[in-house]
This record gives sequence, C-alpha cells and structure tokens, in this order.
Amino acid sequence: MNAFERRGGVLHVEGVPVPELVAAAGSPVYVYSRNHFIHQYRALESALAGCGVRIFFAVKANSNVSVLRLFHKLGAGFDIVSAGELQRVMAAGAAPESVVFSGVGKSVAEIDLACKLGIHSFNVESAAELARLGERATLLQRKVRFAVRVNPDVDAATHPYISTGLKKNKFGVPAAEARRLYQQAVGHPWLEATGIACHIGSQILQSAPLLEALDSLLNLRADLAQAGIAIPQLDLGGGFGVTYDSEPPFDLDAYGSALRSALEANRQHSSPGAETAERLSVAVEPGRFLVANGGILVTTVEYLKPAQNDAGHNFAVVDAAMNDLIRPALYQAWHRVENVCDHPDVTERHWDVVGPVCESGDFLALDRPLRVRAGDLLAVHSAGAYGMVQASNYNSRGRPAEVLVDGDHFEIIRRRETSEDQLRLELGTPAGK
Ligand code: LLP
Repeated sequence: MNAFERRGGVLHVEGVPVPELVAAAGSPVYVYSRNHFIHQYRALESALAGCGVRIFFAVKANSNVSVLRLFHKLGAGFDIVSAGELQRVMAAGAAPESVVFSGVGKSVAEIDLACKLGIHSFNVESAAELARLGERATLLQRKVRFAVRVNPDVDAATHPYISTGLKKNKFGVPAAEARRLYQQAVGHPWLEATGIACHIGSQILQSAPLLEALDSLLNLRADLAQAGIAIPQLDLGGGFGVTYDSEPPFDLDAYGSALRSALEANRQHSSPGAETAERLSVAVEPGRFLVANGGILVTTVEYLKPAQNDAGHNFAVVDAAMNDLIRPALYQAWHRVENVCDHPDVTERHWDVVGPVCESGDFLALDRPLRVRAGDLLAVHSAGAYGMVQASNYNSRGRPAEVLVDGDHFEIIRRRETSEDQLRLELGTPAGK
C-alpha cells in the first residue's frame, strides 16, 4: 500500500494534501497513515498465519498513545522496555495481560509495577535480574511468568548499534546459562517459566539469521523438555526490515513458510503426543515493520545557502533537526526526501538538508537532488518508526506535533511542545514555580 502519493503535483497522505496538514499542525510535524499501519499489521498476521503467532508491537518504535490504541484495537499485545511504556499501553486501554517486558535494566520500581498489574511475561536478561524478579514476586506474593532472553550469538547483518544477538552485545544470556536459570527457577513458588525469548537485532533484511536463532531456541526447549521443564512459548523478537532506499524488503511470506516448516518439523520430532510439543505458541515483537513506512516528517525550508564555488556544498537549512529525527546522525541512516509541491521551473541541484542545531552532524539528508526554494515543504520518508520516540529537546527545541491521517480525515494526536512545557519541570521558573 502506498499512503504517500502525489496528486496534481502535491504530496498527499492518504486523501489529505500535506500543506493542509501543516496549516493545521505547524512545521515540523510527524504525519502518520492509519491505513498503512493497519495494512502492515494485517500483512504480518497473514504471513505468519498458522504458526500460532501472537504479535506484540514494540512500543519503542512509536509510542504515541493513539497509535498504541490502534494496534490494541487490531488485536496486538505490546513489547515494552520501561514503566513509562507500560503507562502508555495502559493509557491506550490495553490489558496488562497483553504486555511483555523486555530490557536489560529493569528497576525494582518497574518490576513491582508490572508484577502488581499482572503482565503476560517478563523477558529476563541476566541471572541477577531473575534473582531480583524472584525476590520482588515473593515480597508482593504475585505469580510471575517469565522467559529467559537467549543470546544465540547470531549475526543479524545490520548496523552495529542495532545488532543485539552477538556474544559481545549486552543482551540476553548464552543458551547454557539460560538452561541453568530455568533449572534454578523450578519449584519457585512465585516464578513460572512460560517462554524462551530472543531478539537478535533490528532492520534485518534476510530470514536466515532469524531462523538460525529460532533453531537455537527450539534446541534449548527440547533440552529443557528432557529435563522435565515444559516451555509453552517462544518469543522470537522483532527485527523485520523495511525499505528505506532500494533495499529489497524483508520477505515475510518466505519467513512465514520457513517458520511454519520449522515448527511443524519440531512438532513431529518431539515424542508423539508429548504435551510440551502440542502446546507451543509463538510471539513476535515487531516495531519498525509495522510503522516505519507509515510516517513522514514534514519540514519547512528556512534558508538556502548555495555553494559559492565548485568545492562547496549547497545547504538547505530546514526547521527540523537532529533532535527531531536523529537516525541520520546516529546510524548514518538514509531517509528519502522529496519536495511536497512540484516546482518544474526550479533548477535541480544537490542539497545537504540540514537543521538549525549547532553541530555538523545535524543533517537529515546529504547530497540530494531537489528542486527547492526557501519556504518549501520537504517530506522526510520512513519516519514512522524510531522518529518521534527518539526526539529530544536539544538546543531547547520543542518536539514536533504528530498527526494521524485516516482517509480524508486527520487528527492531531500530539500537539507541538512549547517552551512552557519544557520550563514546567524546572523549579524557579514561572512555569515550574
Ligand atoms: N524487541 C526488542 C527486545 C527490541 O530491543 C526491539 C528493538 C524490538 C523488539 C523491535 O525491533 P524492530 O522490529 O523495530 O526492528 N533506534 C534504532 C532501532 C533500535 C531497535 C532496538 N530494539 C533505529 O532507529 O534504527
């Protein structure tokens, strides 16, 4: 589905011209297509049909409560990594039972909140965390379900900052240690091992590393079954990649068939009628796949600074910056940029699209052919995932508004942050008192 089409020389999001959205919500602004999100969710559901899969949306990719509410309505659960994300999921009206809690550094307060609410499961990342979880569950007298996150030492072949399944990464524990942790927890009155988890990285474009990780989870499950420990769920994490530039998209259907075959083969190899084999269900934790290409960041060109000689760069200085979308600065990420309105009469040149922040790393795109004038609107594509959620107040810039488009309608789902919003937290200011 393409929710971002040009009509009459003007970029639209679903049925709404982008200039209309900017007139209502200001610039810069994140704009999301509700129907793209729904389309991606349905595509994932159907590619993985027959695998007994439950989808837990990775809240870190886009945590706007209206977006979470949409995924809740579609039937998703949620993968969270903080109490803040848990509160957002609750605010979206989802049940705690639909929440998986990942992350290497869960605090006592976070564990207690999630225990009391009764979440689906904790994905435990270390022996120390399992010990803490056992203590808190005992103190609170709450039964807690957990999975151990295995680090399968698999190369996800992605950017090093978002590769998480290698031995050198801080995430999870090796399978042998995981096995010990499950054994330790046997008989614990408040801990119940219900899953084995992994997440090997993000923006993964090939199925192979994911299937390799699946294999090591299945092996561990078989090992545990032999030791009399039945684990009913595998959480395969997220990571399905999307197209930013010209990368061939992750082949979900091929992954779905390989997953079905692997699960079927595993069922047949387990002892016939064995209860553990029958009861296997699968969870996935996609973030980017569901939302990345359903969002754009719209920004206005403040100034043009054309090069003064052949060696120079042409700079288009825009009103969005690295604080609004940090992916280009942090991961050398490439986001497609286009002018919202056609200007066939303007000469095409190559521009560095840069923001107002006082850092040379503050760019959204480099060396892009554009026909651009001061005052134009530019759309930065693939900004629906890890865009707004990573925005900051650097340079005391207020974070952008967010808009959700549905057909010919749109709704401002987060207003622009004001200076007063920022000062409210600072004591001794008129806003903070
Ligand atoms: N589950 C866990 C435990 C994760 O750590 C992540 C992402 C996901 C699921 C979702 O992964 P996805 O399906 O979105 O690939 N800020 C980076 C991405 C960091 C991803 C961190 N973990 C970026 O802008 O590319």
